[in-house]
Amino acid sequence: MKELLVTKDESGKVIGEIVDVPKPTAQANQVLIKVVVTGTNPKDWKYIGGDGPPVNAGDDIAGIVDSVGPNVIDFKPGDRVAAFHVMGDPHGSFGEYAIAPDHTTFLIPENISLEDAATIPLVAFTSAIALYQELLLPLPWSRGTEPHNPKGRNPIPFVVYGGTTSVGLTALKLARLSGLYPIIAIAGASKGIIEKEDLADVIIDYRNNDDIAGDIKKALDGKQLFHAFDAYTEHPSTQPLAENLDPKGRVTGILPYEQPLPHGHTSKMTYVGSVHKHYPPFPAEDAAVDAGFGYVFSRYLTRLLAQEKFKPHPIKVLEGGLGGIVDGLNQLREGKVNGSKLVARIADTEGL
Ligand SMILES: NC(=O)c1ccc[n+]([C@@H]2O[C@H](COP(=O)([O-])OP(=O)(O)OC[C@H]3O[C@@H](n4cnc5c(N)ncnc54)[C@H](OP(=O)(O)O)[C@@H]3O)[C@@H](O)[C@H]2O)c1
Repeated sequence: MKELLVTKDESGKVIGEIVDVPKPTAQANQVLIKVVVTGTNPKDWKYIGGDGPPVNAGDDIAGIVDSVGPNVIDFKPGDRVAAFHVMGDPHGSFGEYAIAPDHTTFLIPENISLEDAATIPLVAFTSAIALYQELLLPLPWSRGTEPHNPKGRNPIPFVVYGGTTSVGLTALKLARLSGLYPIIAIAGASKGIIEKEDLADVIIDYRNNDDIAGDIKKALDGKQLFHAFDAYTEHPSTQPLAENLDPKGRVTGILPYEQPLPHGHTSKMTYVGSVHKHYPPFPAEDAAVDAGFGYVFSRYLTRLLAQEKFKPHPIKVLEGGLGGIVDGLNQLREGKVNGSKLVARIADTEGL
């Protein structure tokens, strides 16, 4: 089979080569998927190069199950699925076939295209872990969320910085499903997506804004804030969240945040890798429980997609299949991708 291996040149630009490698075999709890569409993520360009060899860095798989390992009970050959590949392991999504664990593989209903499906896995697990494992917000199937709450909303204020990053937008979708109120999003040029899908009660523009904290305070209108998510996490992004957070509240981000925060808060980093295994220095105890969470949440995602309660991210399809991914990763690196996910159809690869 063919796969794309990527690395960086001396200037930091992503470069890559399509190579022939043996088709892998699914072991124990693994699913071997014929990749129809691969997604991309900022990590695909960030953590490659240096002393390491070129790698197949793709983690978002959408395709058809080819075969399953002996312990897999949820999937069979021919199933349409999306899956989150184990970051750093071989056989990622930049290839004709990819391997994923069964607990982060989920069925894709016919109403969702595989292009759309390829945008979901990594960001969905990230934002779900942030909301439900780090911030301990009520799950969408908890009593107290719609329709149990007579007013239809859960009076739990929630603030998301970076509401139009792929992770942040997904967090807003989950916050709506959990019935949180009010949902306050900080976003920029792509804020129209939040408006169009009605994913926040108040949108604050971060551009040319020197009082984001004050705007959050106004939007809270006297309500206490206990939960905040920084889906951007580049200083000073977490400051205005912490300024408004109750001393007993929690804030989590998606990158390390070392700067001191008001009211003695610390921002614990959400790390999506915990859904698969323990990646030091992240806490081993998180990984011990997040695999079970990932199993349940991914099955629930299938249901949400089938019921059209979870809309996938806007997409841009890269030209040339595997051959277009290097250009896509450089676009991500240069900050040229706004409010959309870049995906590639493997069949568009020259020579396939
Ligand atoms: N810890 C983890 O497990 C984990 C998992 C996934 C991702 N991440 C990290 O999370 C970050 C976001 O990833 P992603 O895939 O969601 O990114 P993305 O979709 O590529 O983010 C692009 C968006 O970033 C927004 N943005 C740019 N500058 C901003 C600013 N100053 N303030 C607020 N928003 C700004 C832009 O929104 P506008 O167009 O509205 O300006 C743009 O649409 C990356 O650093 C990634 O490496 C970490």
